[in-house]
Amino acid sequence: MNNQENIKGKVIVITGASSGFGKLSAEYLSEKGALVALGARSTSKIEAIAKAINDKGGEAIAVTTDVTDKEQVKNLVDSAVKTFGKIDVLLNNAGIMPLSPLEYLKIDDWEQCIDINIKGVLYGIAAALPHMKEQKSGHIISVSSVAGHTISPGGAVYSATKYSVRVISEALRQEVKPYNIRTGVISPGAVDTALPSSVTAGDVAEGIKQYYKENAISADSFVRALAYMINQPEDMDVNEILFRPTSQEL
Ligand SMILES: NC(=O)c1ccc[n+]([C@@H]2O[C@H](COP(=O)([O-])OP(=O)(O)OC[C@H]3O[C@@H](n4cnc5c(N)ncnc54)[C@H](OP(=O)(O)O)[C@@H]3O)[C@@H](O)[C@H]2O)c1
Repeated sequence: MNNQENIKGKVIVITGASSGFGKLSAEYLSEKGALVALGARSTSKIEAIAKAINDKGGEAIAVTTDVTDKEQVKNLVDSAVKTFGKIDVLLNNAGIMPLSPLEYLKIDDWEQCIDINIKGVLYGIAAALPHMKEQKSGHIISVSSVAGHTISPGGAVYSATKYSVRVISEALRQEVKPYNIRTGVISPGAVDTALPSSVTAGDVAEGIKQYYKENAISADSFVRALAYMINQPEDMDVNEILFRPTSQEL
């Protein structure tokens, strides 16, 4: 049995690192010896998280990043490479979930959701791939959702973005074989983070908040899945993890 730890010393770039999965992942992975680069729009939050990691003896940088801006995403990845000398893992995690029925015509929400959840992932790939090709190693992990496997009313655009993440990641998996790059998707169900606050439709937001209150599990669940994926030996590529709260029907 190969129980080798494969997180220590890795350079891990995380988008959406100011909250929820991204924040907790940065903290956990740095405890395991990873060097982390945190990107998000909330500069003061990522700077505070990076400082706390550095104060504990870890290594972290914070780079203000809006994933809808490809230059900012490139700057995040390039800053990690400049500071730490390489990039081993990109976690395409930034995302929003502005659920609403199509008839509400929340067109601004649709556009933001597509820009962040799909284009943000593509910009991450564009930023990381040249470095990983040159290194002939790397790991690109993107966050989809149970909503990337099933569709329900109110979830048309969010599900479309999360299905897209899986499609993009599977094509990437097939294309990057010559470069020894691993690709993974993590598809969580309801997990306790700030995500429900990205729902802008009042009646929908109420229902989602109640659903999360009753069903959501701790964000540790995501971090355990992520650590499992990264931790495998380099010749094992765990391509998808789908998990839900045990109580979740959908
Ligand atoms: N929690 C769940 O139940 C669940 C289930 C399935 C999938 N997911 C997915 O998990 C991922 C992380 O969400 P979470 O649950 O951790 O929610 P969260 O606590 O709301 O965190 C979302 C993160 O995304 C960042 N973000 C949003 N827009 C951004 C932008 N334009 N540029 C850069 N960063 C941006 C936010 O930072 P700033 O606002 O500071 O930019 C924040 O750090 C998302 O892709 C979400 O769809 C979550």
